[in-house]
Amino acid sequence: MIVVKSSKGGELRVDGYRVRVVEKLRLPSLDERFKAIKEAGWNTFLLRNEHVFLDMLTDSGVNAMSDKQLAAMIAAQDSYAGSMTFYEFVKTVKEVLGFEYVLPTHQGRGAEHILAKTFVKPGSVIPMNYHFTTTKVHFELAGAQVLELYIDEALKTKSTHPFKGNMDPEKLREAIRKYGKENIPFVRMEATTNLIGGQPFSMENLKTIKQICEEHNIPLVLDGSMIDWNAYLINQREEGYKNMSIAEIIKEMCSLADIFYASARKAMCVRGGFIATNNKKFIEKMKEWLPVYEGFFTYGGMSIKELGAMAVGLREMVNESLIGTEVEQIKYFAEKLTKEGVPVVLPPGGLGLHLDAMEFLPHIPQNQYPAGALAAALYIVSGIRAMERGTMSMERDKEGREIFSDLELVRIAFPRRVYLRSHIDYAVDRIVWLYEHRNLIKGLKWVYEPPVLRFFLGRLKDIENWGKELYETYKKELGNY
Ligand code: F0G
Repeated sequence: MIVVKSSKGGELRVDGYRVRVVEKLRLPSLDERFKAIKEAGWNTFLLRNEHVFLDMLTDSGVNAMSDKQLAAMIAAQDSYAGSMTFYEFVKTVKEVLGFEYVLPTHQGRGAEHILAKTFVKPGSVIPMNYHFTTTKVHFELAGAQVLELYIDEALKTKSTHPFKGNMDPEKLREAIRKYGKENIPFVRMEATTNLIGGQPFSMENLKTIKQICEEHNIPLVLDGSMIDWNAYLINQREEGYKNMSIAEIIKEMCSLADIFYASARKAMCVRGGFIATNNKKFIEKMKEWLPVYEGFFTYGGMSIKELGAMAVGLREMVNESLIGTEVEQIKYFAEKLTKEGVPVVLPPGGLGLHLDAMEFLPHIPQNQYPAGALAAALYIVSGIRAMERGTMSMERDKEGREIFSDLELVRIAFPRRVYLRSHIDYAVDRIVWLYEHRNLIKGLKWVYEPPVLRFFLGRLKDIENWGKELYETYKKELGNY
């Protein structure tokens, strides 16, 4: 954003870019939407884009690329081994993040797999501020137990604590005492903590956690997939960082990490991932696994074209003009919905607007997936494709029992540089209508439940066919669009 003084007092934030390529959108009819959600097994992941109006499932791999990124894709030097594009990327990582050694991976979970293979063994314990779905699965498959050491405020959706992504330092000290540092291969901090509603951690907290790690000689791993939004929010909310640039804040965050990894599909607006560190021993150990699972170390399962665009994406990630739009959009969205009494996660963070499904639909028990039902209902009434982030996104325990998620959220994600204010106004209108008719929504039950990461491919059904009544009521009141 370009920040200037407003003539009315206060500040004015203006997007520092313009749009030069557009894609026409089509609003599918209500009839079409109702048919499509049934065909998709009430799972928004299984919808086809031709039936979607606003695709707000995720910010992953769907951000608008810049002219310079596209140019870099053409200029990239395709080669299996030794491409100059890779070495230029390494130089950029050093320049922007401050790390010497880099391993590209096909995407973020590729990096997690390499970390799991290299550092995690049966009996390992991995403390984190909060888990991410793929992270947890990779570490658990390697035999580890994941500990979530969030602060109490993290799960209170109404609390306006500015840094709900913080890790509780006392809980970390306690975990080290209880499990022993020899069983903790690393501590993981996730920027713009995904599953609690895109909430940032503070630099002060990161420094405290780093200090505890250092006292016990435990490496600190930073998942920087969404470091851009976390840095933007530190700049806005944390004492002492208001006059620092995003580039400086990101450099400082990275200086506290022993290992950095990211899905580049997010903040860097390309399709890939990587691991970076200044520790030679770590990189050599990880590098051994790279050709087995990802590819040769100068492409790591990515297309070289994307690697070229990733270097540009990294530099753009710290360009003040190009970042921050989505944080401002989410804030606008949250303010509008809050004014109408719709329960959303506060304070608005990065990643997306998060509806609090347990508050929205208090009549649906967690074993009937209130967030999944709400995501399906939102699609029916708007054509907006959002994502369930609740119990459906959890794995069952070893005995096959359901593990209830701490929060039941519907995430309406904001891909970077993609949606406009009128889209938000449309979404607000439809969500408010849905909130007024929330009693029509009931739960979901499984028709097909995959054994792992079930939310991706699982198929469900609306309990007592509630979808039909929602569809009919909408049609009577608002017509077929
Ligand atoms: N870490 C975080 C914090 C993520 O948000 C993601 C992906 C990953 C790791 C895995 O990266 O997808 O490139 O393999 N998040 C996506 C999302 C899927 O929709 O939030 P990946």
